[in-house]
Amino acid sequence: MAAGPDRGGRRHSSAKKSRGQQEPRWGWLKAAFLLSAAAIGGLLSWSYLGTEDGVTEVLARHSENLQDKFIEIPCSEDYDGHKRFEGCTPRKCGRGVTDAIITREEAERIRRIAERGLSLGGSDGGASILDLHSGALSLGKHFVNLYRYFGDKIQDIFTEEDFALYRDVRRRVQQRIAQAFGIHSASMYLTKPTFFSRINNTEAKTTHDEYWHPHVDKVTYGSFDYTSLLYLSDYAEDFGGGQFVFMDASSNKTIEPRIGRVSFFTSGSENLHRVEKVHWGTRYAITISFTCNPDHGIGDPVLP
Ligand SMILES: *[C@@H]1O[C@H](CO)[C@@H](O)[C@H](O)[C@H]1NC(C)=O
Ligand SMILES: *[C@@H]1O[C@H](CO)[C@@H](O)[C@H](O)[C@H]1NC(C)=O
Repeated sequence: MAAGPDRGGRRHSSAKKSRGQQEPRWGWLKAAFLLSAAAIGGLLSWSYLGTEDGVTEVLARHSENLQDKFIEIPCSEDYDGHKRFEGCTPRKCGRGVTDAIITREEAERIRRIAERGLSLGGSDGGASILDLHSGALSLGKHFVNLYRYFGDKIQDIFTEEDFALYRDVRRRVQQRIAQAFGIHSASMYLTKPTFFSRINNTEAKTTHDEYWHPHVDKVTYGSFDYTSLLYLSDYAEDFGGGQFVFMDASSNKTIEPRIGRVSFFTSGSENLHRVEKVHWGTRYAITISFTCNPDHGIGDPVLP
């Protein structure tokens, strides 16, 4: 945005010196400046205006390959209502996106774990979840415990290699978050719920299918301190809609899912967010949640 006025300012001062003899030339320059300012202004407002009624800015496009993007924002007071764990509880808040820690191939393997698991159940509505930690799996209008329901047969569905990859991905996401917020990875604990989601445009049948409402993770789940999402399918290729949106007072900031993309953020109300409704296709992701409170920590999933 600085390019327009700065360029104009320099032209203005150089034109001033020779105003007398160069009046027509200055007039032409002024017209050119106004035209280019209008063009730049038009481009800016075009890129800021999305499909919503208000202002939308795209933080991460599907086509981009982001190394590490991080935006610091002031922390909300949500953390004060909970026990603080120095060296972990957020003092620095913000949000980040990276395409550099999980490869496309790894994300495809992780998606196949989700596909296999979810093929055993599925919600009647458009949003199904699978939690490998607790075993929770959407089935119709309810949830079942995958491990209890399928017993030993689960070993035909998932392998040790699947679970090893899942642990490794979790570990790398945890390290990336710790690095971004300047804390020790070992001071954070995986917490629940950590789960796969599969969303399509089937109409919601219960409130569990209503994923699109704005919410604050730390208000919904008191234990959360850092939330992350690993996307397992591609926006605009595998599904339409389904963008992740940070809802700030001044604008909505969207992240377009990309397979292998990790987005992460502090879980308080500085990061109010929602997911746009999926219009077509199927959107897969995994939500990986962390807490600073060891009492709320959970272990990695293990094959029964
Ligand atoms: C953000 O999106 C919501 C819901 O789509 C909309 O109601 C709100 O006006 C938007 N906010 C801004 C600042 O554009
Ligand atoms: C969408 O998801 C629902 C619920 O899991 C499933 O029954 C339905 O077959 C899916 N539809 C498509 C087109 O994939």
